[in-house]
Amino acid sequence: MKSDLLVLSAAQLITAPPGQGPLLGPALDRPELLEDAAVACVGGRVAAVGKTSDVVARYPEREAETVVDARGCLVAPGFVDCHTHLPFAGTREMEFEARARGETYASIAEKGGGIRASMRHLRATSEDALTAAVQSRLAHLLSQGTTTVEAKSGYGLSLTEELKQLRAVRRAAEGAAVDVIPTFLGAHEFPDEYRDRREQYVALLTETMIPAVAREHLARYCDVFCDKGVYTVEESRRILARGRELGLQPKLHADELADVGAAALAAEVHAVSADHLLHASEAGLKAMAEASVIAVLLPGTAFTLGLPYARARRMVELGLAVAIASDWNPGSTMSSSMALMMTMAVTQMRLSPGEAWLAATANAACAVGEGARLGRIQPGHQADLVVHATSDYRHVPYHYGADHVRTVVKRGRVVADRAETWRCT
Ligand code: NIG
Ligand code: FE
Repeated sequence: MKSDLLVLSAAQLITAPPGQGPLLGPALDRPELLEDAAVACVGGRVAAVGKTSDVVARYPEREAETVVDARGCLVAPGFVDCHTHLPFAGTREMEFEARARGETYASIAEKGGGIRASMRHLRATSEDALTAAVQSRLAHLLSQGTTTVEAKSGYGLSLTEELKQLRAVRRAAEGAAVDVIPTFLGAHEFPDEYRDRREQYVALLTETMIPAVAREHLARYCDVFCDKGVYTVEESRRILARGRELGLQPKLHADELADVGAAALAAEVHAVSADHLLHASEAGLKAMAEASVIAVLLPGTAFTLGLPYARARRMVELGLAVAIASDWNPGSTMSSSMALMMTMAVTQMRLSPGEAWLAATANAACAVGEGARLGRIQPGHQADLVVHATSDYRHVPYHYGADHVRTVVKRGRVVADRAETWRCT
């Protein structure tokens, strides 16, 4: 049979076992590993995966439009970065320095920096300029092996500015190779003009902003920063309920800075995921496990801010589905390297390399509602895969700070290729 693309003779291929749901408990530590592996892609999807000899028996090389020689290399699903603040404007290296000199994330935010500094940058940036910035970030993500990204608003903090952010995301996503999942995060902070009138900003969110976002179909999810000094559990509950009413599924920034009961709220509202969870209580985590809320871990944030890492091992033990994402934003994590996030997950959170891979691919796809389509290399799934210049899946998180990505395949097409210059190790 004909194929659009054949990836041949990979030293190793890693993927989650066939399925579409997240991997829980001990299953997270059981990736499928194939040797001398091949993948055939037809119509943007995986048609076959297995031993090279078996795959080419059905999809011969001479009938393939494109052939990727993966000898000596690792083939893995493209990373799904299921939590980013991609449409940001400007950067905050002053705060990076201030923290090194002893300031904290919270003390900087209290003085008007942090998210509100990014809000000022955002408001001073045109939709066209923002669209161009997002486009170039999408290209950067692809070069790092990220084939799907979630992108939150939350730096506009007014009707027009939040819509501007989400429209920029939509425009940048059109024609981009990376799949983009948009999330409305108007409840990221209280903007300066509403700091003494919180109630009115919450009303603006529920009565005006969420309906406008829903009307234009600008977001799939509604997220709230439910934490100390930001949104209370009660405020978050109202905002998420309104989102759900209008078709936006709930997500939460939960218990990042302190335990405020956000994990339990995520369980109560059946959020698709609760993210951060650095201070989440045992009871909150148990409730999440029972309600099948995915725990999205963002080790880059703990790393950048010098906070304790989320208790990943305990979460796995409790039967929670654990995913990993970058949280790329100009404040708490100025990195989009999923490989580096896996390194931190292994060295700081004690996930095994296999767990880290499945958390950054299959489980991350489930955290954006795409488990049935993305995150695995299996027949029927979208053909999003990456050839890494190493022959062992453990090498990617182990050899950190290095760039292992050689070839990126998105929807069955090669979209980035450095095969000429790249040597497999
Ligand atoms: O996920 N926690 C809240 N929001 C971001 C930080 C955003 C910023 O500092 O600009 C986060 O870490
Ligand atoms: Fe975040």
